[in-house]
Amino acid sequence: MRIEKTTVSKLKNTDFNNLKFGEVFTDHMFVCDYEDGKWNDPRIVPYKAIQIDPSANVFHYGQAVFEGMKAYKDKSGKIWLFRPTENYRRISISSERLAMPVLSENIFLPALNELLSLDKEWVKPGIGNSLYVRPFIFGSQHCIAASPSKKYKFMIILSPVQSYYSSPIRVLVAEKYSRATNGGVGYAKAAGNYGAQFYPTRLAQEEGYDQIIWTDSKNHEFLEEAGTMNIFIRIEDTLITAPTTDTILDGITRKSIIKLAKDNNINVEVRPISINEIVKAHSSGKLKEIFGSGTAVLVSEISGFGYKGKNYDLKSIKNSYSSTLKSILTKIQYNLTTDPYGWRSEVSAVKV
Ligand SMILES: Cc1ncc(COP(=O)(O)O)c(C=O)c1O
Repeated sequence: MRIEKTTVSKLKNTDFNNLKFGEVFTDHMFVCDYEDGKWNDPRIVPYKAIQIDPSANVFHYGQAVFEGMKAYKDKSGKIWLFRPTENYRRISISSERLAMPVLSENIFLPALNELLSLDKEWVKPGIGNSLYVRPFIFGSQHCIAASPSKKYKFMIILSPVQSYYSSPIRVLVAEKYSRATNGGVGYAKAAGNYGAQFYPTRLAQEEGYDQIIWTDSKNHEFLEEAGTMNIFIRIEDTLITAPTTDTILDGITRKSIIKLAKDNNINVEVRPISINEIVKAHSSGKLKEIFGSGTAVLVSEISGFGYKGKNYDLKSIKNSYSSTLKSILTKIQYNLTTDPYGWRSEVSAVKV
């Protein structure tokens, strides 16, 4: 791997106490090009704008997939990733669905390790602080024929962040718009899935909600997920989450929460859950919690939801499942406890 270091670091001029999510980037980025059936020239270069032909596939047909992960710093200064091989697995699934070439594991993981080792001063210690890692692949061939690109770029950029949502959020249950449909691309982390959510989400925000909880596109009956989070519902002492079908992203936080909940004697049901069941549980007082899970938020408490013009509020409870599970997961991520699952992965430079 070729490494070209920056001559002027932006580190000293960065205000780490006032970071806006995703607006500040570190000194370096990783780039690798796909051409003639091969990934070529993996390199780390100073973070800068890149030149792309206006006819590139990504601008017209949207061949673009990405990942989202975080690097954490422990008290001794070591940097950790959380289940990075899961992100590799998922970007491969996403690439396949978008007819894009699949990266090899021996590009993805060394690239992460090398880049994070170089920019490790950008990871600040302390719970809530992390470096958001954004790997992405897009079609870069100059050609406006509606067919898969023959050239691609795989890149990784890094952005220092603080917690995403600090207070509980309010969500609107989708009744008209859909995020995904059977046979579609909902399970892939395809860029277009996100662009398509912005308009309905903006309408929901104008009504005072933070996000939408998507429902199945056929009858808008069963809960799927939110914009960048999987959803958990607690009815009495049972934690319920939808199975990950072809319309739902297979969240790494979600599967970690399920495992942690089970291992902490919480009854977990992975099954379709309808909005009617939730409304009923709310009126009988059995609905205890709703929360979202995802890399950006980790675990985000939901304080209420809107459905069919009515608002349903949820009281904050002591020793909630969301706060208990968030705390266990945070300790694993920041190396504050043992990791019986082998989820933590220490970052180290491994020049290839
Ligand atoms: C649509 C969607 N659902 C769920 C998640 C949660 O996935 P993960 O826990 O792997 O971050 C994300 C990503 O962050 C997402 O974009």
